[in-house]
Amino acid sequence: MENRAQWGTRVGFLLAAMGSAIGLGNIWRFPATAYDSGGGAFIVPYLFALLTAGIPLLIMEYTIGHKYRGSAPKSFGRIKKGFEWLGWWQVAISFVISTYYAVIIAWAIMYAFYSFNLTWGDDPTAFFVGDFLELADAGAIGGLVPKVLLPLLAVWVITLGFLARGVKKGIEVANKIFIPLLVVLFLIIVVRAVTLEGAADGLSAFFTPEWNRIADPNVWVAAYGQIFFSLSIAFAIMVTYSSYLPKKSDITNNAFITGFANSSFEILAGIGVFAAVGFMAFQYDTSVGQLAAERGVGGIGLAFMVFPEIVSQIPGIPGLFGFLFFASLVLAGLSSLISITETYVAAVSEKFNVSRIKAVLLGGGLAGVISLLYATRGGLSILDTVDHFINTFGVALSGLVEIVALAWLARSIKGLKEHANQTSDIMLGNWWVVCLQVITPIVLGYMMVQNLILELS
Ligand code: PFF
Ligand code: NA
Repeated sequence: MENRAQWGTRVGFLLAAMGSAIGLGNIWRFPATAYDSGGGAFIVPYLFALLTAGIPLLIMEYTIGHKYRGSAPKSFGRIKKGFEWLGWWQVAISFVISTYYAVIIAWAIMYAFYSFNLTWGDDPTAFFVGDFLELADAGAIGGLVPKVLLPLLAVWVITLGFLARGVKKGIEVANKIFIPLLVVLFLIIVVRAVTLEGAADGLSAFFTPEWNRIADPNVWVAAYGQIFFSLSIAFAIMVTYSSYLPKKSDITNNAFITGFANSSFEILAGIGVFAAVGFMAFQYDTSVGQLAAERGVGGIGLAFMVFPEIVSQIPGIPGLFGFLFFASLVLAGLSSLISITETYVAAVSEKFNVSRIKAVLLGGGLAGVISLLYATRGGLSILDTVDHFINTFGVALSGLVEIVALAWLARSIKGLKEHANQTSDIMLGNWWVVCLQVITPIVLGYMMVQNLILELS
């Protein structure tokens, strides 16, 4: 316990935490969610969820990692004997996410190169499902799609390579490169996007508030879901990362910085995406609303079908714009993949007392093999199913169980509050306890029931 690995610098930790948080969820999940949930009015439930659930839970997870100095299973087990399983459960969810996250990053690598010649041609949608995924060539689960194998291998080699080098020399170095680079590339994209013709229409479609939507409970559920997924909460990640913090660390402040940085990035992404969609609507002489309804403005469809179409129409150097977009996806994705993979690397090496390298080879190798499943013809539908399942049940349930187990059953909240307060100038008061013990579980509980009903109906 004494010679536990540590971050080299505070900025190193913050960049790693932001690297985990800022991911595909910011670039293709947030813009669509906000747009569908009241546009500008979404800011109300969104900020509420950030301030009463997101940041308070982030503080809790940072405190747990810092105080108990272990991967999620170990830390939870130290809080209360018998709660180790909760850590393993979260680690298992992270493991599953990592297997398909890797494949999406591999696709983005291919598309970054395709950008230069606009390889997707006149009909990017047909290209994606046909030529690229080869969905037409076989029924359900066909053979492997060979062209994805090399980039997929590269994704795993990069991820596991950094992880093998350890916390300071590997994870920290990776994020110190990836995150500043990501911010620069993304800023260029956004500046280009907002200067396109039609951008203003896109932005006004995105920001125009539909205030009446605030009365819709589903909008609140969407806000909580976004915050949890986006901040990588309840997936064993933040506990693991904060377990490498040095003794002298300002926990509460770090949580606020991470939370606000992540939200800033997703609002920026919303601006970039909708400016680009506004441009597309302008080209087709249609409205943003019409376009969004027909084509969708989120997820895999946005990235690999809608965006290539936009890229092809950009005046000037379209290839560059496309490259920057897909390179951003790759950087944001890799830094998140590193964090989810670290949850099981840390957990396995602690539990079975094996070296980091062995845990990397074992855990990462297994995840790598499983990820081949999505690189088959028909892999997209498996990916969609798994992703839907994680989003519907993983996110809310995981957060709910964590709070009920730790904040209520283990009665750890008072100790955690004192611990956090010893580290920071920002004093946690009773509001923090109320957020965790009362507000958040009520909303998450409602969310679970709601999702269950939707699923069964
Ligand atoms: N927080 C990341 C995002 O917003 O894309 C993604 C993520 C990483 C979600 C790891 C969940 C997770 F376990
Ligand atoms: Na995020």
